[in-house]
Amino acid sequence: MAATNKNQKPHAIMISFHLQGHIIPFVNLALKLASKGFSVTFAHLDFIHHQISKSHYNTTEIDIFAQARSSGLDINYTTISDGFPVEFDRAANFNQHLESFMYKFPDKVDEFVGNLISSSDSNYFLLADTFSIWSAKIAKKYGLVNVSFWTEPALVFSLYYHLDLLRENGHVPVNGRTEIVDYVPGIPSINTKDFMSYFQDSDLQLLHKIIFRAFDVVKSADFILCNTVHELEIAIISALQQKQPFYSIGPLFPADFSKTAIARSLLPESNSDEWLNSKSPGSVLYVSFGSLAKIDKKVIFEIAGGLLLGEVNFIWVIRPGIVDFDSGGIFPEGFEDVTRDRGLIIPWCAQNQVLLNPAIGGFLTHCGWNSVLESVWCGVPMICYPLFTDQITNRKLVVDDWRVGLNLCDGEFITRDEVKEKIGILMSGKRSDELRKEIGKVRKILENALTKDGSSERNFDCFVKDVSDEIFKRCKEM
Ligand SMILES: *[C@@H]1O[C@H](CO)[C@@H](O)[C@H](O)[C@H]1NC(C)=O
Ligand SMILES: *[C@@H]1O[C@H](CO)[C@@H](O)[C@H](O)[C@H]1NC(C)=O
Ligand SMILES: *[C@@H]1O[C@H](CO)[C@@H](O)[C@H](O)[C@H]1NC(C)=O
Repeated sequence: MAATNKNQKPHAIMISFHLQGHIIPFVNLALKLASKGFSVTFAHLDFIHHQISKSHYNTTEIDIFAQARSSGLDINYTTISDGFPVEFDRAANFNQHLESFMYKFPDKVDEFVGNLISSSDSNYFLLADTFSIWSAKIAKKYGLVNVSFWTEPALVFSLYYHLDLLRENGHVPVNGRTEIVDYVPGIPSINTKDFMSYFQDSDLQLLHKIIFRAFDVVKSADFILCNTVHELEIAIISALQQKQPFYSIGPLFPADFSKTAIARSLLPESNSDEWLNSKSPGSVLYVSFGSLAKIDKKVIFEIAGGLLLGEVNFIWVIRPGIVDFDSGGIFPEGFEDVTRDRGLIIPWCAQNQVLLNPAIGGFLTHCGWNSVLESVWCGVPMICYPLFTDQITNRKLVVDDWRVGLNLCDGEFITRDEVKEKIGILMSGKRSDELRKEIGKVRKILENALTKDGSSERNFDCFVKDVSDEIFKRCKEM
């Protein structure tokens, strides 16, 4: 059992999960916890540390949280190896990387946590991403109170959580069927086509196994935190709370939404302020498909074609490696001429800053959960082109439930005509006004949640109290 000391504040051990969409809210969570008076030891995988620090500071000899600490927060930053050299190409050796994550990384974490705990008598507890399947083993070995952090909506959490039920009813794997499911606690009705991509196919990969395993593990967590807002998912959250302590504490944003002193991004960020400031309010479509998925070249081609046919300004993030490269350009003829005038192509950006710019009038998005929350926060309606994982399910919330976005690709294939048409509808006219009105309402819900008496703020304080009580209770029991 870890030593506990009544006179000290709780101390979170946070080892981040290596995907961009997970890193962003996890860092924000660390800062928020520290701002509530907790101590935090935060570790990135060392290859992630290299990527972030090189991208932002052009050196790896840097403490990413130095600024947080100098502002008075009790956060120590360190790194942990995933067992491969920093320069190992993890994307190209995806399965080898996953296997190691599943079978070897837990020992690294064990060693890391063991060393930390023996170095001081802090009131340690474990705060891990829900995908960190090693957490139960480590928590058990060291007798640590444990918290699981879910970076996606409660709807998605609940679907994974009820995987066995969905399997019993024959709805997972989906295998192309479209059927209504109405028996998952808290979810009145959802079409199987809106299930996450990992439920769609019957061919189970190692990745599926890790995710499904994560949802066995989470059922033993002492506390679950979710980057969502109570008022947006009331029934689902209430149903989950019947099972386990579940706190909606989102949206987790940096204290200053657009300026982030603590680097979170894996790629260098282009600054497009000057270009954006030269455009009139609401005239620019922002296009980004996130940090992870590759996109079919044909899709890029049709989107570019749609932008070419249309008349709106656009700023488009084309990440290095977003398309599996063959020879030849990825844009149709004439596209580059257009981009000189009303379009800007960039490799990556500080998305919060872009979305906040008054010139932005719409967002063509893959519906990653961070992107959805940020777009709502900035009052920017969306065109949804989900690619995989929870993005498919997030689309349902954005388009069907909140009515703050439009679908793209109603047919089987995306066409430039449809792209042009949807952009037109999104950016101006009656439907556009309706979307803006609705997004104003959802935005208000997010804003209210983060006020002093708002649900997320109160839930966070409850969590802080409950986790402290649990730590000190175990302290007494010892
Ligand atoms: C951070 O490290 C310093 C120096 O090693 C130590 O004194 C301090 O207690 C640590 N704080 C946390 C939150 O681990
Ligand atoms: C990054 O650092 C290297 C080595 O110190 C230096 O040669 C290079 O010019 C730097 N690049 C930028 C963009 O500052
Ligand atoms: C959390 O701790 C409990 C003991 O309190 C343990 O049984 C469980 O496996 C741990 N779960 C996770 C997810 O760490």
